[in-house]
Amino acid sequence: MITIIGAGKVGGDAALFSALKQLDDQILLLDIAEGLPQGEAMDINHMLSEQGIDVEVKGSNNYEDMKGSNIVVVVAGAGRKPGMTRMDLLKINAGVVKDVVGNIKKYADDSLIIPVTNPLDPMAYITFKTSGFERNRVFGMGGMLDLSRFKQFIHEATNSPRKEIDALVIGEHGENMLPLTRLAKIDGKSLPDILSQEKLNNIFTSTKNVAAEVIKLKGATVHAPGNAISAMIDNVVNSKKQVMPVSTYLDGEYGHSDVSIGVPAVLGKNGVEEIIQLELNDSEKDWFEKGVKSVKDAISGINV
Ligand code: LAC
Repeated sequence: MITIIGAGKVGGDAALFSALKQLDDQILLLDIAEGLPQGEAMDINHMLSEQGIDVEVKGSNNYEDMKGSNIVVVVAGAGRKPGMTRMDLLKINAGVVKDVVGNIKKYADDSLIIPVTNPLDPMAYITFKTSGFERNRVFGMGGMLDLSRFKQFIHEATNSPRKEIDALVIGEHGENMLPLTRLAKIDGKSLPDILSQEKLNNIFTSTKNVAAEVIKLKGATVHAPGNAISAMIDNVVNSKKQVMPVSTYLDGEYGHSDVSIGVPAVLGKNGVEEIIQLELNDSEKDWFEKGVKSVKDAISGINV
């Protein structure tokens, strides 16, 4: 069973995409708001019945119902409002995530956990520490969402088929994210051989800033995060072994320990099966270090 804790717009979309991709035959939406998860589940089940898809989506306000979950997604907590940074949510959401993870430990102690709540990297760290799970079982969704935007900007700049774009975004899911323009490829051809440095710089900056723009226009980002969550679940449950950027606990990788931050990883049935260590150039290392510092500063300010 897949459990999604937080039945708001992103959690609902994650359930919808996961059901449409038939990633499990049971999906549970959990929320403290009476009626919200139940209504969301009914709405999705009606759609599934029209499509003839036999995935059962259930809504509940009771943590006990997540017993037997093999994957738990944590979307619970406040979302940012126009003008806020993800880090502005740190204090509000730290307590929420600790409480949620305490219940995951109680009722779904052998699950894999996918944190989504912002600020994502500190929340992934809190999840890892609070759960006491092995680090491969906790991997946050942030880089996959940044990557979806990075690919869109590459698609727009080159008019290339989206399927031909191979790219990565690592580091902090935040102001110091690192879209790797130098390593991106289109149908195997290096992006720097296709676009000028100025255009690469524009894509780098746009990837970083576009979430705030969407929030300003429509109030929240919904479909891209919902899809990114389902893509990670798909990789795990179908053991696709695809390399994806995930926020996970480092123990020496990239020269850092005791921090959770976005790194390329091979995902499979056991969660993070391998962390890929890329050779970064000096400029990329600087950005990555900025992200690590930002996350470590945030962590130091909260009682984990
Ligand atoms: C975003 C939020 C979910 O990037 O962090 O849309």
